[in-house]
Amino acid sequence: MHFTSYGHSCFSVIIKHKKILFDPFITYNELAKGIDAASVEADYIFLSHGHEDHIADCVAIATRTGAKVVCSFEIHMWLNRQGVTNTHPMNTGGKWSFDFGVVKCVTAHHSSGLPDGTYGGNPMGFVFTSEEGNFYYSGDTALTLDMQLIPQYTALNFSVLPIGDNFTMDAADAVQAAKFIQCRKIIGVHYDTFGYIKIDHEAAKQLFAEQGLQLYLLSPGESMEL
Ligand code: NI
Ligand code: MN
Repeated sequence: MHFTSYGHSCFSVIIKHKKILFDPFITYNELAKGIDAASVEADYIFLSHGHEDHIADCVAIATRTGAKVVCSFEIHMWLNRQGVTNTHPMNTGGKWSFDFGVVKCVTAHHSSGLPDGTYGGNPMGFVFTSEEGNFYYSGDTALTLDMQLIPQYTALNFSVLPIGDNFTMDAADAVQAAKFIQCRKIIGVHYDTFGYIKIDHEAAKQLFAEQGLQLYLLSPGESMEL
């Protein structure tokens, strides 16, 4: 699976030639100045929750590309009112078969108000299962015991977890999350973007390495095969 970082918690994964974009937040990210949101392609956009640092570029990218937006029922209604109608509402615990594979929505312990104050429903994580591999994106979340359920659904090739602390897990909690989900390859997200979430990269990598885990910290625009 081809993985590309767009900074903060925005990234894409290509499965079966479909480009799946997550939590688009590029235009207002100082660290992603080298990326033009107007040139980012997508077949699908998955939104973990309604906070601005996860959806700021969603309407523009969805409108330009025609990508299908998968999100909570409440965010789906909010997008529909803004003219984005190619949407698929889901909620925690549910799964759906898409043309690239199956996605199950799982618990994220966070909040999900939309930028204009509209209620955004529950925040969610996503477990992707496909012929090309499996992965978990937790979205913004605390460490939760619910994560232990995920390896009962699928064996993960890699996972995308927040490590920035303050609003989400820190790196130490993400190490525990990696153990709960039984996954050795973790891509860290949701760090450095704002003052509250600046981290020491080497210290974070060391915490993972001490437990036999691999933490990847990609620069905005950087890609890797997983
Ligand atoms: Ni958030
Ligand atoms: Mn966030």
